[in-house]
Amino acid sequence: MLEGLEGLYQDALAALQKAKSTSEVEQLRVRYLGRNGELTLLVRSLREVPPEERPRVGARLNAVKEALEAEIRTALERVRADEERQALERDRVDVTVPGRRRALGALHPVTQTIEEIVDIFVALGFEVATGPDIEDDYHNFTALNFPPDHPARDMQDTFFVDESYLLRTHTSPVQIRVMESRKPPLRIVVPGATYRHDDDLTHSPMFHQIEGFLVDERVSMADLKGVLTYAMRELFGPETRLRFRASFFPFTEPSAEVDIGCLICGGQGSQCRVCKGSGWLEILGAGMIDPNVFAAVGYDAEKVSGFAFGLGVERVAMLKYQIADIRTFTTNDLRFLRQFV
Ligand code: DAH
Repeated sequence: MLEGLEGLYQDALAALQKAKSTSEVEQLRVRYLGRNGELTLLVRSLREVPPEERPRVGARLNAVKEALEAEIRTALERVRADEERQALERDRVDVTVPGRRRALGALHPVTQTIEEIVDIFVALGFEVATGPDIEDDYHNFTALNFPPDHPARDMQDTFFVDESYLLRTHTSPVQIRVMESRKPPLRIVVPGATYRHDDDLTHSPMFHQIEGFLVDERVSMADLKGVLTYAMRELFGPETRLRFRASFFPFTEPSAEVDIGCLICGGQGSQCRVCKGSGWLEILGAGMIDPNVFAAVGYDAEKVSGFAFGLGVERVAMLKYQIADIRTFTTNDLRFLRQFV
């Protein structure tokens, strides 16, 4: 029996040395010291040993058992330390790896331009008003003094939604909506999207306008020129040249088109494809509000007068940032947009 015990002890020691994980050590513990472990069984069979040998054998059994328990504790410490080292190695964090940058959004250049223009007029005491993109014929045309068969209705290539509704071709219908619900004096600016069947280097089917109008007693064309000259110089710089050309709009009389000197070619004209060689770029329509418009909203044209203007936002942005093609605003090329962050 003692030989068996020594053999078992040597085997157990050898196996413990080779154990590489806590679970392997645990398996060995069960194998030798568990309820039915090899050593446990030997201890149990002590009663079959002749009484005179029992003290010696028993003492040896106990010594081996204690030694084995100690060896198991040592082996456990060793494999635990190994496992911990491996875990540290595996989960190591490389603090020198660069962080992931979070992309920040920014306002679209058209939005930035709208805000800039609106701010100029707000500083002059104008209020901001808005209206629906889907308009009815009455507000978009009729109340603005376009007769039913007036050719000006064809001048604007309208997108119709159905027989009664259309995508507004300009922001001027908001003049009507504001005047229908309020009394003068009024100083209003209206930023918004507008729609026309049009598509080339300087025209987009969806674009933006800022409408402005002022209604009070004794408002004159001089007020219109003064306000617009001030606003355009705020926007494009104090040297900005303005040109007022006599024109026609059904809702203003007299009417003017306002050009500013082309900043792309510096007014040189000749080869410039943006101003088409003229040296000027039209950005504004303007005029004195027609008495028929006042009649449509129930104002007394004998008592009040006013001026109005409508300005193309994309045109302004193209001039300010020297952009040659209006389509770059809607193609969403990040290389373009990032220049406006
Ligand atoms: N609504 C005109 C257009 O889209 C622009 C315009 C011209 C607006 C003259 C005005 C104005 O308020 O007085 O072409």
